[in-house]
Amino acid sequence: ITPVHCNVVIFGGNGDLAIRKLLPALYHLERDGHICGSARIIGASRSDLGGEAYRALVRAGFDEFIGAEDWDENLWSTFSERLDYIAVDAKDPASFAKLKRALGSEFEAQDTVYYLSTAPQFFGPICENLAAAGLISPSSRVVLEKPIGKSLASSKVINDAVAKVFPENNIYRIDHYLGKETVQNLLALRFANALFEPVWSNSHIDNVQITVSETVGCEGRWGYYDDSGALRDMIQNHMLQLLCLVAMGVPVSLEPEAVRAEKIKVLKSLKTMSPDQVRRNAIRAQYGAGNMAGKAVPGYKEEPGGKPESSTETFVAIKAELHNWRWRGVPFFLRTGKRLPSRFSEIVIQFKSVPHSIFPSTSNLLPNKLVIRLQPEESIQLSMMNKIPGLSEGMPVMPVTLNLTMPDRFAEVRVPEAYERLILDVMRGNSTLFVHRDEVEAAWVWADAILDEWSVSTVEPHSYPAGSWGPQASFELTARDGRSWHESK
Ligand code: BG6
Repeated sequence: ITPVHCNVVIFGGNGDLAIRKLLPALYHLERDGHICGSARIIGASRSDLGGEAYRALVRAGFDEFIGAEDWDENLWSTFSERLDYIAVDAKDPASFAKLKRALGSEFEAQDTVYYLSTAPQFFGPICENLAAAGLISPSSRVVLEKPIGKSLASSKVINDAVAKVFPENNIYRIDHYLGKETVQNLLALRFANALFEPVWSNSHIDNVQITVSETVGCEGRWGYYDDSGALRDMIQNHMLQLLCLVAMGVPVSLEPEAVRAEKIKVLKSLKTMSPDQVRRNAIRAQYGAGNMAGKAVPGYKEEPGGKPESSTETFVAIKAELHNWRWRGVPFFLRTGKRLPSRFSEIVIQFKSVPHSIFPSTSNLLPNKLVIRLQPEESIQLSMMNKIPGLSEGMPVMPVTLNLTMPDRFAEVRVPEAYERLILDVMRGNSTLFVHRDEVEAAWVWADAILDEWSVSTVEPHSYPAGSWGPQASFELTARDGRSWHESK
C-alpha cells in the first residue's frame, strides 16, 4: 500500500455525517496505511471548539460508530495527532487565514481535499473564501455532499458558484451509493462477464425494479427531510445512479470521462413525464402511525419536530422510461420509503418468458430473474428453471436459484464502508465514482417535472401505516402494466 499525500479539511466537521461516517472512514484508511505520515485532517465549522474538545468529540463518536474489534489505542494516538479543529465561519474571510496557518507547510507539501459537508448555501462562500485566502492550488479538490439544490435552477446556482473557483475535474460530487461494494460490482457483473451484455436490452428484459426500503423514520432531522422528501432525498441521486449503472452502454474504459459519458446518455434519455403521466406513474405517500417489529411508532407528522400540515412524501414508487434503442418499452420501476417492514436495497432484472413452453402445463415455468442485493447482505442471485429430479412423467421443471453471497465467497475480505472507498478515491484524484455536473442537471430535469406537478396538485399524498409496504397505489402501478414487485425474502 502506498500512502497518499493528501490533507483533508472537513467543513461541517462536527456535524452528524462527519462524526458518524467521514471520520470513522478516515480512521480505517489510517489503519490500512493509506494516509501519509505528515498529512493533516482538520475539522472546520462555526462552533467555537478547541482542538482538544474536538478530538474528544470525535473519540466519543468512535465509541459509537467504530466496532470494538476495530478500535486500537495506538492507532487512535497516531490519528489524533494529525486531527485538529479550526473555527471557520463560511462567510468570514478572516477565519480562513486561521485554517491556512493550521495547514502550515503541509499545504505546500501535499494536495488538499476540502470536504463540504454543510448546507449547500455555504458551498459558494466557502469556495470563494478558500480562494481569497490562497488555499487553492491546481491540485486542490472539493467534495460536495448532497443535496446539490432542490431543483435544476437552484442546483445551477450552486454549481456555478463552485465552478468560479474549482475546475470541473477537481469537483467531486459524492453519492455514497456509488461507494457501496455491490454497486461497483454491477460494473464487474455487466462488463467482466460476456454472458449478460448480449441479453441486456428490451429484446430479453421485461422490466427492471430498484427498491431501497428503509425501516427508519427521519432520524431526528424532520426539518431537513420535510424540506426535501423521498424524491429529492433518494430518487434524484442514489436511485438514478443505480439506474444509470444498470442501463448504461459499455464504457470504453473505466476512466471517469468514459463512465460518465455513458451515464449521462442514460439520464438524458429518461423520458420527462407530462403532468398526466406524473399522476399515473409517480406515486407519493406518507407514513401514518403503525407498528414496526411489534412496537407502536408515530406517524410522520407526529415525529419530534413534525408539523400537522406537511404533505412531504416519505414513500415514492415510479415507473420511469428510457427513450433509447436499448430500453424502449422496458419499464424501470423505482421504489423507496421510510418505515417499511425491512431494510434492504436491491435491483431486480426481470427477463422475458421463453417464447414457447415445451414442458407440462403443470410446470411452474417462470422467467429468469437476476436479483442484485446491495444491502444489508451483498449477493447476486439468478433464478433459473431446473428439472425436478425423479421419474415423473413429462419432465416437470421448477425455479432454482444460483446464489453468490459475497460474505460466503470472500469471507476473509473486509468490505469497506462506502465512504472509505470514496474518500480514498478523492485523495488519489480518481473521480470515476463521482457525479458530473451534467448528470446532476439531467437528473433534475426529470425530477423537476414530477416535483412541479406535485407542488400544484390538490391531491394529497397517499397514506400508509408505518410497517407496511406502502400504499395500495404502488402495487396498482406495477399491476396496471401486468407486472408485480419482486417479493424479497
Ligand atoms: C441518505 C439519505 O443520503 O441515504 C437518508 O439522506 C437515507 O435519508 C440514506 O436514510 C440511506 O443510505 P444507506 O446507505 O443507509 O442506504
